[in-house]
Amino acid sequence: MLTDSYQRRFTYLRLSVTEVCNFRCNYCLPDGTDCGPDARAQDLTLDEIRRLVAAFARLGTRKVRITGGEPSLRKDLPDIIRLCKATPGIETVALTTNGYRLSQDLPAWKAAGLDALNVSVDSLDAARFEMITGHDKLTKILDGLALADELGIESIKINSVLMREYNDDALDDFIAFVRDRRITLRMIELMQTGDNQAFFERHHVDGDTVIARLTAQGWQEKIRSRHAGPAREFWHPGYAGSIGMIMPYSKDFCASCNRLRVSSDGKLFLCLFADAHQSLRHLLQADEPEPVMAFLQEAVAGKSATHGLHQGNPGATRQLAMIGG
Ligand code: 5AD
Ligand code: SF4
Repeated sequence: MLTDSYQRRFTYLRLSVTEVCNFRCNYCLPDGTDCGPDARAQDLTLDEIRRLVAAFARLGTRKVRITGGEPSLRKDLPDIIRLCKATPGIETVALTTNGYRLSQDLPAWKAAGLDALNVSVDSLDAARFEMITGHDKLTKILDGLALADELGIESIKINSVLMREYNDDALDDFIAFVRDRRITLRMIELMQTGDNQAFFERHHVDGDTVIARLTAQGWQEKIRSRHAGPAREFWHPGYAGSIGMIMPYSKDFCASCNRLRVSSDGKLFLCLFADAHQSLRHLLQADEPEPVMAFLQEAVAGKSATHGLHQGNPGATRQLAMIGG
């Protein structure tokens, strides 16, 4: 079992499979992917991923989220899903995507064993969506979400980063979207990263203001299970879906941390906002899980209690495409 010195248990791995992204979200990669032409050459291979996931699973990891950059830019994504699902101990395989390949590729992902899907949709207005992401793809992505429902994907979530001027006036649209859909819409407070400081200062919205409005409209907070992770969830009797709030600046956000991250080039991120990250790629060259397990146990023992965001320190994270949120 992976446990740190604050008695947090890590049963959830977020694995980035590429840093490359084809979108240009204004808070993340406003100028597109900034890595060089060989960025994809750095990506972990299928064998390395298989060994990594096997070692995590032997230490109690039960859920793997495949993320990026944009994971669907990897042609072997179905193989990655399949190998995660086939790893003894792994119960849930989830994917975070910008959704641009959803309507074409979801059947293959589902056939490979995908259980849960998170799609980033920061606006339900096509023009604003394009302003935020640089792509006129909202309709296509919404079609993909409808397909996910038809195909019976067990858990479907939308991630929307809250931003003043872009979507803070659209709360009612977001809420209406989950009235008849069994979707969780998660509003994520904008996080400061190394590259987005001016943007952050101008556009950050406090999640508490949203919670106050939800509560006033009859939304109620769900009681969280002990190992549920840091999101807060709200339900309403008149709605098929639910609303989630991810508020990294709130008190005690990190106390329920249940996840570890590995970047697409094989570095262990103990926290999204740590100052330094150690590579474990050299340990993934042979089918020997023990050295990987020993590395993970020792590293996790040194995980900090919380991030430094309150002190304005995003650590070494320039943007979240580096590690996938
Ligand atoms: N703040 C909050 N959320 C972010 N994401 C990317 N960058 C940021 C940021 N600076 C979100 C994406 C995606 C998820 C993986 O992380 O929108 O939904
Ligand atoms: Fe790409 Fe995601 Fe960053 Fe948007 S937030 S640019 S989709 S990595």
